[in-house]
Order: sequence, then structure tokens, then C-alpha cells
Amino acid sequence: MFTAITEAKKNLQQKGFLDMEVDVKLDLFAEIARLKKEKNAIVLAHYYQEPDIQDVADYIGDSLGLSQQAAKTDADIIVFAGVHFMAETAKILSPQKKVLLPDLKAGCSLADSAPPELFKKFRDKYPDHIVISYINCSAGIKALSDIICTSSNAEKIIESVPKDQPIIFAPDRNLGAYLVKKTGRDMVLWNGACMVHEIFSLEKITRLKVQHPQAKIIAHPECEAPILAVADYIGSTTGLLKFTQRDDAQEYIVVTETGILHQMQKENPHKTFIPAPPNNACACNDCPHMKLNTLEKLYLCMEYEEPEITMNEALRLAARKPIDRMLEISAQAGL
Ligand code: 13P
Ligand code: SF4
Repeated sequence: MFTAITEAKKNLQQKGFLDMEVDVKLDLFAEIARLKKEKNAIVLAHYYQEPDIQDVADYIGDSLGLSQQAAKTDADIIVFAGVHFMAETAKILSPQKKVLLPDLKAGCSLADSAPPELFKKFRDKYPDHIVISYINCSAGIKALSDIICTSSNAEKIIESVPKDQPIIFAPDRNLGAYLVKKTGRDMVLWNGACMVHEIFSLEKITRLKVQHPQAKIIAHPECEAPILAVADYIGSTTGLLKFTQRDDAQEYIVVTETGILHQMQKENPHKTFIPAPPNNACACNDCPHMKLNTLEKLYLCMEYEEPEITMNEALRLAARKPIDRMLEISAQAGL
């Protein structure tokens, strides 16, 4: 096997800094399949990954599905094609396994909007509240939380908490506001947001709807309230995909990250999916963090088993409790 990788570049890549060159003649699909077998590795990919990565993945899912897979896999290596908090969650759940992330710089604006030191001060102002945190947060925030949720199970998690128990919801103010409306619970919200879901243009979506009057607008609950107000269906990434499979419309304006369109189109080859445009010159909306992963980086990280996610054990144990609680409530709810 031939790869044009110098030692210097290899060292840099191991620190997550550089996209190394890979021999263009290499069949990356075949190489990744070989590495999976040789190393007993599993590739878990979020729906927001580029189509090639989705096509080589053993499992493609939303944040809830991915964490359930990470908890139950018997692979020796979990290759997480997603962002840092997702790979970190896999490590929290499967500490004995090696967890790899193709690009360590693949972060998340929403997770970054809640630094643990500030959040702790905020939480301490509400001593009688419990903390429900969206999984899109750091291990430090998880360790300060009572229950984790994802966009798939958030309503069920909130409903599992006694009605007289006050709640802090972090870090997404948009998902939080949506859940306040849905559940009728008056939660205290942390003021964070996702850069991808906050940038959609209501004006452009309205114009698209005029051009495609039969199209249904489907949106992720991380979007702002005025966008959600015009949506025909609101759901997690998996929720949106399933909706397009059971619904009988032929056209959809999809208000979330563009990566999900790959599976929507595969599952519904005769339907039309129009990505909702953001508030800038672009026609569709990619997450710059998710899209840092490439097939080349996926191959390199499997070949060299770097960059690896590592974590302090005390932090891991503290972060694990609220995730286990989420998985228990989800299982009880049949999710
Ligand atoms: P879900 O995977 O829960 O749909 O969340 C979307 C997202 O923004 C992931 O970063
Ligand atoms: Fe984070 Fe938003 Fe990107 Fe998801 S889409 S990883 S929430 S920045």
C-alpha cells in the first residue's frame, strides 16, 4: 500500500492540525473496509457528515441513536464521524474502547456557548432547580447536569420530571423555548445557540414556499421561533427523515444542516428536497465543524489510530451519570 505521507506531516496530523495528503490512487472505500475488519473498528456517522462518509459508516444516526450505538457496540475502536462532544460522549459510555475523531478541531458552536465555569455560577443561582442539558455540550457541562437529552427525547425527558420540580435547560435557548411551549414547563434557559440553525432566512424560506406551494417546510427545533412557526413538521434529524418517509408530500423545504438530504434522497428517490437557505449568499447551510471531517481524514485516523479522545476519569464518571439517566428514560419510553 502506498501513501505519500511524510513523518513530519504524520506528527502534525496526530495533533489534529493538518490534512495530510493521501495517494489519489488509493481506493478509500476499500481501505476503510479493510481497516474496519483488521482492527475490529466501527464507524459511527452523524447525518450531517458528507455523503461519502455516510456511505462508509456502519451506523448513521442522530445524537440519540449514535450514543445508543456507542454504549452497546462490541468493537475495539469507535471511529466517530461527527463533532467533539459526540466522540466525547462515546468515550464516556465506552471507556475501555479507543475512540477516534477524524479531526480534533471539529467542535460545536452550541457546546462552546456554555463554558463550565460560567455555567456553574449560573446553576448555583437556582439551587432548587435540576439541570437538563442538551447533549450538545462539553463533558464539563454534562458533569454539572442531572439529565442529558437530545432533540429526539427532550419532551419525554422533561415529562419524566415531576411537575413541581423547577428546571434549568441548557445550552440551547431555541430548543429550550420550543420545549417550554411544547411541554408547558416554565424552564430557566441558558442563552446558547447553534450557528447553523440560527442563520436561516425566514424571508428566503417564505419566497421558496411561494415558488413551491406544495412543498412542506420541515425544521429542526434548534431553529429560531419565527422559523419554527412556519414549519409543517418539527423534529430531530431522525424525526425529519422518518417524517419524509411516512408523509405523502412530494416536495420538502428542509430547514436544518444540508447533510441530512443525502439520506432523505436515498430513502425517497422520487421526492424533491430543497435545502433552506441561510441569511447570506449561500444556497444551503453546512455546519463548518461537521464538514471538517473528510473521507481522507477518516482513513488516516483509522490507519494511525489518531487523534484519540482521552478524558480524566473523575470527569468521565461525573458526566456519565446524567447520560445513563437519559438512556434509561429513553429505553422506558421505547425510544
Ligand atoms: P440531532 O442529532 O439530535 O438531530 O441534533 C442535531 C445537531 O445539531 C447535532 O449537532
Ligand atoms: Fe453544533 Fe450546530 Fe454544528 Fe450541530 S449543527 S455540531 S449544534 S454547530
